[in-house]
Amino acid sequence: MSGDLRNQLERYGQDHLLEGWDRLDVAARAGLTAQLTEIDWDQLDRLLSGGTQENSFALAEQATSPELVRLPETTSDQDLWDEASERGWSLLAAGRVAVLTVAGGLGTRLDFSHPKGLFPLMPVSEKSLFEHFAESIRARGNRAGRPLPWLVMTSDATHEETESFFHEHDFFGIDPDDVWLFRQGNMPLVDASSGRVLLTAPGQLALKPDGHGGLLRALERAGLFQRLAERGVEQVFSHQVDNPAVLVADPALLGWHDRHQSLLTTRVVPKRSAEERMGVVVEIEEEVRILEYFELPPGRAAEVDDQGRLLLWAGNTAVHVFDRCFLEQSASCIEALPFHRIDASRTVGTAETTIGFERFLFDLLPLAEVALVVESDRETEFLPLKNIEGADSPERVREGLVERYRRWLASTGADVSAAGPVEISPLFAQDAEELADRVVPGTRYEGTVLLTVD
Ligand code: UD1
Repeated sequence: MSGDLRNQLERYGQDHLLEGWDRLDVAARAGLTAQLTEIDWDQLDRLLSGGTQENSFALAEQATSPELVRLPETTSDQDLWDEASERGWSLLAAGRVAVLTVAGGLGTRLDFSHPKGLFPLMPVSEKSLFEHFAESIRARGNRAGRPLPWLVMTSDATHEETESFFHEHDFFGIDPDDVWLFRQGNMPLVDASSGRVLLTAPGQLALKPDGHGGLLRALERAGLFQRLAERGVEQVFSHQVDNPAVLVADPALLGWHDRHQSLLTTRVVPKRSAEERMGVVVEIEEEVRILEYFELPPGRAAEVDDQGRLLLWAGNTAVHVFDRCFLEQSASCIEALPFHRIDASRTVGTAETTIGFERFLFDLLPLAEVALVVESDRETEFLPLKNIEGADSPERVREGLVERYRRWLASTGADVSAAGPVEISPLFAQDAEELADRVVPGTRYEGTVLLTVD
């Protein structure tokens, strides 16, 4: 171990990490040195001494609801949405779009000991989230006449298993050259009372993925900005691995983004209640921002208008469209993205409070000169998997998906009165409109229904 590193640890009160150094073998010493060298100790020290919840609470005081593109209500609104959709299809056909799935999180609340993308969630086929997204991406590419590159961000915690899963399933029918798996970085876990970095075993630092804002550095490290540029990609459609209802590379959203020359577009749905664990999209001093649920004072989150509707209602679905150049430029000024203090006690499973630090991708919103907010239909597009029981549990998500597929089927004029659970593969149809082209009105469905292609 270099004297410099040792001195640095002493200076920041972290030299307990070297206790037992003499008992480590050569490989373990090399491993620990590599982990310690990766950490920016100066930055960690600043994070530990500043950035309290009070700062974000003060910000929340000035927040108002954002200006946004609402769902269509009139025929002229519908014309604009149709026009946006056409634009989106043109971009897809020209190969200007890539899909990004953030899948580096640990899914701690779900009690599932594998990456969330492996969860067998689909209601009839029991397909995994990854397979479902793969089918959605293939379907979008098939219809556009051009395959879309799929970027999947993993972390140390999820990478190996995710990679093996993709290989075992032959990349779900996608050309492996179009699937770009890459790994985000880590941040150390710290004991809240002493400010000391924790070890999981002698010579092993306790680390946690550095938040989905780690994307910028991860893309840069993996050389993917260049690959995206070479491929001619202009828009990156990003979503979280936990929402199977997302309309992947939705042409309308891509079209709205393009129409407004937006650098970062984000999709919102009404929050169900003040307590729902969703970030809210707000405007503060004419800038669009997302305030995370644990950074919003409960009183502020619960404020309502004279009709009882939440004032800060625009829940973050975590579906965004990024301008590729904006993303790349932001990577060169990464320090502008703040770290948020996360309670990581559950990850570690200790009684003492453990904190971690994460960057959030959506903190790019106030940095975007043009940012756009677009509303979407909650019942159709937002069914996240978060908990093992109750709200946002596998059972509820499956019920929501079945309801959605039944609604689509009924809207084509099919008779679903005797139908049980329904699932429609994205390869068969990605929305009610596409389904109407494939189902003869009056068709009667009975029992369990799985519409797919061979
Ligand atoms: C998240 C959003 C919240 C939004 C809600 C919608 C954040 C900080 N909050 O909350 O505003 O309303 O989803 O469902 O995103 N991930 C990584 N790397 C990480 C951490 C997370 O890739 O280091 C990925 C996870 O794999 C997952 C997603 O980010 O796909 C969300 O992470 P999670 O911690 O579950 O966010 P929520 O608290 O549910």
